[in-house]
Amino acid sequence: MMCETLDQTLVIETATSSDLPEILRIADARLGVSYMQSSDILGAHRTTFAAFLGHRLVGFLSASILSLADFRECYARIAQLPEMGDRLTDPMGILHAVAVDARYEKRGIGTALIAHGMTLFAEPRPLTIITAGWADNQGVHIAGPVRENGFQKVGYLKDYWQEDSLARGYECPTCGKPPCRCVAGIFAQTLR
Ligand SMILES: CC(C)(COP(=O)(O)OP(=O)(O)OC[C@H]1O[C@@H](n2cnc3c(N)ncnc32)[C@H](O)[C@@H]1OP(=O)(O)O)[C@@H](O)C(=O)NCCC(=O)NCCS
Repeated sequence: MMCETLDQTLVIETATSSDLPEILRIADARLGVSYMQSSDILGAHRTTFAAFLGHRLVGFLSASILSLADFRECYARIAQLPEMGDRLTDPMGILHAVAVDARYEKRGIGTALIAHGMTLFAEPRPLTIITAGWADNQGVHIAGPVRENGFQKVGYLKDYWQEDSLARGYECPTCGKPPCRCVAGIFAQTLR
């Protein structure tokens, strides 16, 4: 995918192992130290797209498709939201993480990454895709870009990363050392 709205052309490609150090650098800075591991980026069931301006990697998105049974197990709190009741599909699509280098924010890169990420969800139908957007005192960072790509908010979950941050020991940019007490804004869209 190419986007001509920036000073330089934005190119989005499937990430490879040579992109890993830059993706991890952006993930540590934007999502929290050690929040993402290499297996979260290049693991067998993940697809990660990287956005480049020239040779510079400026952002990434990681996504996957899960069976409904796995979704209910791994994302129990989201699956149990009342607003998800008639949205559950088998399988489910997940946007796990989107992050853009802070120096390149607010130029449309996050929105373009999500638009490109949707290509992973070309089939089957119907398919519901969800994402949990991190909220800090400035609100849910990803709200604008996901709404722009057709997602609707289906709820908020308090302490969404609390147990996970303790179990995996990552540091949230807002909370620092675990536990993370941040709220997640949950967004979904159903493709028919
Ligand atoms: C969330 C995040 C990925 C967004 O990336 P981004 O590249 O800044 O996203 P975009 O530029 O597409 O959109 C962000 C805003 O900039 C605006 N924007 C886009 N192009 C613009 C331009 N040329 N000039 C001014 N504003 C612009 C968008 O309209 C949007 O505004 P809104 O949020 O008020 O709706 C980025 O802020 C980030 O990495 N945050 C930290 C990690 C995070 O929270 N990730 C999401 C949870 S997994």
